[in-house]
Amino acid sequence: MDSETKRSSFTGKIGFILAAAGSAVGLGNIWRFPYLAAKYGGGIFLLVYIILSITFGFALMVAEIAIGRKTQQSPLGAFRALDKRFSWVGILATIIPVLILPYYSVIGGWVTKYMFGFMAGSMGDMANDAYFGDYIGKVGEPIVWFVAFIAITTLIVIFGVQKGIEKVSKVMMPMLVVLMLFIVIYSFCTLDGAWAGVVYYLKPDFSHFSIMTVVAAMGQLFYSMSLAMGIMITFGSYMKKDISIEKSTHQIEIFDTGIAFLSGLMIVPAVFAFSGGNESALGKGPGLMFITLPKIFNTMPGGAVIGAIFFMMVLLAALTSAISLMETVVAVVMDKLKLKRWSACLLVFGACLLLGLPSALGFSAWANVKILGMQFLDLFDFISNSILMPIVALATCIFVGFILKPKPLVEEAELSGKFKAKKLFEIMIKWIAPVCILAILISSVLDVFGIVKI
Ligand code: TRP
Repeated sequence: MDSETKRSSFTGKIGFILAAAGSAVGLGNIWRFPYLAAKYGGGIFLLVYIILSITFGFALMVAEIAIGRKTQQSPLGAFRALDKRFSWVGILATIIPVLILPYYSVIGGWVTKYMFGFMAGSMGDMANDAYFGDYIGKVGEPIVWFVAFIAITTLIVIFGVQKGIEKVSKVMMPMLVVLMLFIVIYSFCTLDGAWAGVVYYLKPDFSHFSIMTVVAAMGQLFYSMSLAMGIMITFGSYMKKDISIEKSTHQIEIFDTGIAFLSGLMIVPAVFAFSGGNESALGKGPGLMFITLPKIFNTMPGGAVIGAIFFMMVLLAALTSAISLMETVVAVVMDKLKLKRWSACLLVFGACLLLGLPSALGFSAWANVKILGMQFLDLFDFISNSILMPIVALATCIFVGFILKPKPLVEEAELSGKFKAKKLFEIMIKWIAPVCILAILISSVLDVFGIVKI
């Protein structure tokens, strides 16, 4: 592809923000954030997440967008263009979506299944505690939905109808927000015991704090904002020079964090209402949303219809993210292997099937296979979010702080006016972020390999 030479620009300011938000808002916000918040201490997780988001997240996003806009290249080319010794960062950043997309599609498959489940009138069954576990414990069906999800994504990318999907999602996103607000208010008003969950979710309790809270919050931050994998570099390369990088970053952050926050508010208090806040319910992990939401809908008049609409919107948010993930991979494959678009798409489709299969089977046929104590889905999630993304983020900080120096990027950000948080950006990217990321990276590795229990 000639993406390196010919770059079209996003039309206007809103185009950039919408495209970046479309990629940022997805399963990370709706599925991943609530289960991490529930598991890692509620309020304290939220607090750590918000602090990290306005410091680290801000600095890293500004850096990535500025790198992209300055070099006008994709991550592979951008790092190479700026300093040859850092080419590997671009390569690593490009590998991450290859690891995420397959398991993202497995969860996309769960969402698809639940949407059809609501349509087919099985809400009552889905509201049972054991339903989700039984479902993912089957070999056949979850794989069918996983393949369906990845096939739809591939077809959209092959036929280049992303624009149409984005148009639909522009209408659906605000609807999703309204629906989430409605569900939150509904459960507060009707579910006994939800209040204890609100307190758990909003009030930081320092006794729940551990270094793993920070590890999880940081990984989630990268994941949710699509950072540390070159995506924002690519977006930056399409951004016009007169648009403020700082303001756009704030807007994307607020939007992305707002949806994650709302999603947590929808799910965590309901977990309390249905289980009395018992530890094992809070630690349900990836299944939390699928176990909790049908119960809420089941108590609601017209819940089956609302549930179907809700899952349809989540599916759409997941699709826009999956499309953007796939696009990145396909662009690199076309470029490097000199393939046509459809052959590159088919190749990526095949790779996703192969890599996603272990994640899909990890709850059924391969449930006993554990690596580092994790099922495949958790393993892929861990490698990308807790190892590779921090490495890319660390390298980006060192690169910007010491090789390139923050100055050229500050200048890039100043092209459209004053860069208010310039000092914060410089200190963050040069000193605080790299030191903290390194500490977090080391602790998560030590923890998982069981060397030190943190
Ligand atoms: N941010 C997406 C979400 O919250 C997931 C994601 C991570 C992503 N990296 C990405 C999506 C890159 C598109 C492109 O669901």
